[in-house]
Amino acid sequence: MNMQDSTSNVFISSILSGKGGVGKSMASVNMAVQLSKMGYSTALIDADLGLSNCATFFNRSVKYSVADWVNGNCGLEHLPQSIDGLTLITAASEPSQANIGTEIMMDALDQVVEFLSTTHDFILIDTPAGAGEMTLWSLDASNTGILVLVDEPAAISDVYRLCKYIYSIDPEYDFAGIVNFAGNEQSAESTFKRFNTILDYFLNKHIPYLGFIPASERIKTAINEQRPLGLEQGDQDEINEIKFIVQQLVGCAANQQQTQPKPVH
Ligand SMILES: Nc1ncnc2c1ncn2[C@@H]1O[C@H](COP(=O)(O)OP(=O)(O)O)[C@@H](O)[C@H]1O
Ligand SMILES: [Mg+2]
Repeated sequence: MNMQDSTSNVFISSILSGKGGVGKSMASVNMAVQLSKMGYSTALIDADLGLSNCATFFNRSVKYSVADWVNGNCGLEHLPQSIDGLTLITAASEPSQANIGTEIMMDALDQVVEFLSTTHDFILIDTPAGAGEMTLWSLDASNTGILVLVDEPAAISDVYRLCKYIYSIDPEYDFAGIVNFAGNEQSAESTFKRFNTILDYFLNKHIPYLGFIPASERIKTAINEQRPLGLEQGDQDEINEIKFIVQQLVGCAANQQQTQPKPVH
């Protein structure tokens, strides 16, 4: 399940969950920002066709979406929006643009990934909730799927069912996971451990833990102020956790590629 060009060293991750509202977009945006700050050339693809909102997290509007390109309103080269050194591409800027059809969109996004792969070290893909076609496309395009867990029975059971479904298609799919809305480090680890116990018991699987993001008023404030974390001094605890997560991801990339991805500047 990996469609990328073998000559390219890009590492592609999808951020996914069973449920909506668990912090996929928040995590995608802030992980992309931290990867970029660490010197990795990073692109973020907002593949949530119905409710794309990554641009809003940066207080930007989308000039040209992938749907605009498909409709002939712009060229492929017009899609990347450069935001403080990272590249953002949005699949559909309005829910109405989702009507172009998933087959056409998936074809277009394959070309977008290929286009970004030659110039980026990391591509993160923010996906819609659930196991719809866009999520499956995104997993197929990725080296790893990062599951966003929260400590709620419904959320954990949704992520479990999502994994079970993906493993039924590809038993060797590479997942990793983070815990969002965590009370503290211990509770995050225990949530993740519980999830792995369930995976182990029912599917004989175990997935690596990348870290956690605390439930935090400062995260809420940053989202409300439409800025990524880190522009204000006070965000340091949250930033450190996100840095930890992306360092684990860099480790996963290095393991898969057997070479350390190189910072570009
Ligand atoms: N760690 C967190 N602490 C506090 N609020 C959070 C946190 N993560 C997400 N949120 C809140 O949850 C809402 C949903 O997050 P979002 O990233 O849009 O979820 P998803 O993309 O999974 O639907 C955000 O608007 C934000 O207010
Ligand atoms: Mg989202």
